[in-house]
Amino acid sequence: MEVINIGMLGLGTVGSGVVRMLTDHAEKISLITGRKLVVKTVVVHDLTKKRSVDMTGINVTDDVTAILNDPEIGLVVEVMGTVDTACDYIKRALKAGKHVVTANKDLIATHGPELTSLALEQGCDLYYEASVAGGIPILRTIVNSFAADKIVEVKGIVNGTTNYIMTQMNQAGISYEQALKQAQELGFAEADPTNDVEGIDAAYKMIILTQFAFGKDITLDDVKLEGISNVKAEDIAEAKRLGYKLKLLGISKLVNKHLDVSVGPVLVPRNQPLAAVQNENNAVFVTGAAVGETMFYGPGAGELPTANSVLSDIITVAKNIVMGTTGVRFNDYSANVKLAVPSE
Ligand code: NDP
Ligand code: HSE
Repeated sequence: MEVINIGMLGLGTVGSGVVRMLTDHAEKISLITGRKLVVKTVVVHDLTKKRSVDMTGINVTDDVTAILNDPEIGLVVEVMGTVDTACDYIKRALKAGKHVVTANKDLIATHGPELTSLALEQGCDLYYEASVAGGIPILRTIVNSFAADKIVEVKGIVNGTTNYIMTQMNQAGISYEQALKQAQELGFAEADPTNDVEGIDAAYKMIILTQFAFGKDITLDDVKLEGISNVKAEDIAEAKRLGYKLKLLGISKLVNKHLDVSVGPVLVPRNQPLAAVQNENNAVFVTGAAVGETMFYGPGAGELPTANSVLSDIITVAKNIVMGTTGVRFNDYSANVKLAVPSE
């Protein structure tokens, strides 16, 4: 069987999950793609760190050129985070004709259009399903299943760390600091959790969702933003007493033909489905003019759920390679998206 060699940037929470799933589900993946997918080289920061996955046969290095200059590597999987370094590596990978899969919402929210243009120019694939809502396949769902509908609103809980913190403060009665520490230990939080707790991570995801739902490129400046770092245990207790749960919601909707995008803490009535979303789970409501309101629920962070989304992209790229259909914009689906928000 022919081989597709993969170069991985990063082997932390998500990267380890990707290696684990590629090994554990190798037979199924080969059957689906018609190719053997092999992780050939992994770039990490700290070469002395002990890894939690079987590294037999995998080159481990801190030199990115081991991937970028290797003509046998056709697919680069970026799961290391950062914006500038990841952007530089991904551009160089695309320029070398390599397909790219990334989980990096910070990067896609800030440089997505530029990277997509480069990928198209190079005839390469660029996929990033894991960048929004971890294990929920929401980007593909919007592309495929809402292709004929006109989306009018996308909203939901899109950050696992803050939802975990507020659930734990509410249910276990632990402090904000203890809950954040647990979220970090469980691998949900970003390396620097500031973006999680200040709502920036959720805003990045709403930027990507807005692109997919409304075909509109927006920036962080377009998002009305508030995080949870000022939320106190008393606020959560008072909300509970009044029959509400406090949730960090992202909302992107058409108001008088204009897009309104926000992220902030919202009091959700206890009997509404979003109130029941606990811990690191996420939920995204997509409302279409035709279909009405739909809800997608699942783990928004964590090793294997996120790795599963990365794997869905890897498999898509492998199939595209086999069928000769690479180089298509991830969210390039139908004209209705471009009509959703009239040009100003
Ligand atoms: P981790 O911090 O667990 O892992 C990062 C990995 O990248 C580590 O292996 C680290 O090396 C390596 N790395 C970091 N910087 C560099 C660098 N400059 N050069 C080489 N290697 C580097 O992150 P996660 O796995 O949690 O997240 C990875 C990406 O996935 C991020 O973009 C994140 O936002 C995204 N993501 C994460 C989710 C999650 O649940 N954790 C969910 C969805 C998306 P070393 O191991 O040597 O330190
Ligand atoms: N830190 C992010 C979260 C990881 O907690 O949602 C998933 O994108």
